[in-house]
Parts: sequence; structure tokens; C-alpha cells
Amino acid sequence: MRKIAILNQKGGVGKTTTSVNLAAAMAGAGKKVCLLDLDPQAHASTHLGVTATRGMATLYDMLVRLTPWEKARLQVESNLWITPAALDLAAAEVELSGVVGREMILRDLLNAEPDAFDVLILDCAPSLGVLTLNALTAVDEVIIPLQPHFLALHGLGKLLETTGIVSKRLNQALKVSGVVLTLCDPHTRLAQEIVEDLTGFLERGRSSRTPWAATKLCTTRIRRNIKLAECPSFGKSIFSYAPTCHGAEDHALLAQEILDLKPALMATSTFEESVSRFSPQTAPAPLAKAG
Ligand SMILES: Nc1ncnc2c1ncn2[C@@H]1O[C@H](COP(=O)(O)OP(=O)(O)OP(=O)(O)O)[C@@H](O)[C@H]1O
Ligand SMILES: [Mg+2]
Repeated sequence: MRKIAILNQKGGVGKTTTSVNLAAAMAGAGKKVCLLDLDPQAHASTHLGVTATRGMATLYDMLVRLTPWEKARLQVESNLWITPAALDLAAAEVELSGVVGREMILRDLLNAEPDAFDVLILDCAPSLGVLTLNALTAVDEVIIPLQPHFLALHGLGKLLETTGIVSKRLNQALKVSGVVLTLCDPHTRLAQEIVEDLTGFLERGRSSRTPWAATKLCTTRIRRNIKLAECPSFGKSIFSYAPTCHGAEDHALLAQEILDLKPALMATSTFEESVSRFSPQTAPAPLAKAG
């Protein structure tokens, strides 16, 4: 079972759009997929037409009441399930604050059914709190959606540093398998400059023993497409709403690219060596000019 967190602490970069449509694309490709909504905004749940009602178990129940995962998921399409969220998930951050081992709760509940699905996609909230730490402890892989904006690379160093700390303390298996450019106008000079900066940065990390040593900059770019912005209000994935648009085409290609990714080969130097090499100066700088 591949477990993938879609993560970026920056808001509005396309995490939920990527999570929902990637999950739907993989389900369409014949994989049995469960999408887990780790965001109290519950946008992934809404996107697939699910509003948690009284009596429906959600991620909150899993984290706070230790409700088994099998009781907290429902099928929404052929091959596609969701573990929904509701606003009460915001309270979990506070309610878990005194609980020992709170970062491992989700991992343990998912591990109770190790072969239930082919792929799990976790849509993370735009924060690095206990919900996101639960996601990072439960998964093997992170995919980072990045909007090619001139400040977009600013937070990437911090985000990667967080995956490094989690891999050291909570989840040694964690790796960042891909970065995907979202909300993209691929032919602008700005997008091309960001690709160059990002490629250079990832190349410099290749010999490290960090979770991003084998990160792939996905060749599929998710272009801006108004249909992608419209489909959540209909409670549908892009494949149900507008299956022939660019947005559907891009997510189908991205799903195939991610399904084809091989487990990362971890390189040789120690985590401490890489961290000492990793400083704000080595993180990609925000671009000075717009294209
Ligand atoms: N490729 C795209 N083309 C057009 N609109 C898009 C695209 N991707 C995302 N959007 C729209 O941009 C907005 C932000 O996207 P989304 O909700 O996926 O981001 P997010 O990172 O999950 O946000 P948050 O951090 O709040 O969870 C949404 O209105 C969404 O419909
Ligand atoms: Mg979101």
C-alpha cells in the first residue's frame, strides 16, 4: 500500500485539487484508492460531495476516539473511498496536546489494515501542526504541490527541513518523492526560471541522506484550468465533471507519473551532514524578477 501525503504549509497552492483529482485518476486507472481529509476546512470531503453528518465517523473520531479506520470511510466512486473531515478536526489539535505519542495515532490505525488499499492520498492542511505530523508519520512519501509564484520557493526550505526532522525522529521511511508545479502557466519565463532554480536545488541535495535526496520534479505540470476551480462546487472530481478538459488530462498524466515512480534510493551521507550543509542560503532563493 503506497501512502502519499500532499503537503505544503503554504495555503492555496493546489493541495486539495491535486489530492482529489490524483486520487480519482488513480482510481480510474484501476487502483483501489482512499483519500484521507486531514484538513479541518474539509475541502477534499466537500470536493467529493461528502458532508459529514451526525453519526458519520470522521478523521476526528479516528484521532481523538481511536475509531478504527474501517468505520471512518465511505465509498464515493468506483475504486475510490474517502475518510472525511469536518470542522471539529480543528479541535483535535488542542484535545491531543496532552496525549503521549499523539503523532503516531493515525499511523497505528492505518497499520491495522496494511493491505486495505493500493494507494492512500492524504490531503494536508496548510500548517505544520499535529494533524500534519500525524500525516507525515503515517506515510512513506510526500508530494509537494508548488505554485510557480515568485515567492513560492520561500517556504520550501522550511518544509523540507520539517520532513528531515520527522524522518529523524518519527518516521525513518519518509521521503519526498516529488514536487509538482500547480496553477501553472508553463510557458512563462517565470515558470521556466523556477524550474531551473528548483532543478539546481534538488540536484545539490542528491548526495545527502535527507528525505529529498531523490525527489523528482514531476515533468507533468498542472496548468490553470477554470474547470478545476468549478468542479468542487458540484461535488465531483474533474473526471466526472469535465473529463476531456486540460485539468483532467494533466491529472491523469500526473497520476501515471507518480504511479511509475520507483522507491527512492537513499544516498550515503548522514542526516546531520546534510542538515549542516542545508542552510537558508542553500534553500532556493525567491526569484527577483517576474516573467
Ligand atoms: N490548476 C488550477 N486551475 C485553476 N484553479 C485552480 C487550480 N488548482 C487549484 N485551483 C483553485 O485554486 C484554489 C486553491 O486550490 P486548493 O484548494 O486546491 O489549494 P490548497 O493548497 O488545498 O488550499 P488550502 O491551503 O487552503 O488547503 C481553489 O479555488 C481551487 O479550485
Ligand atoms: Mg486544501
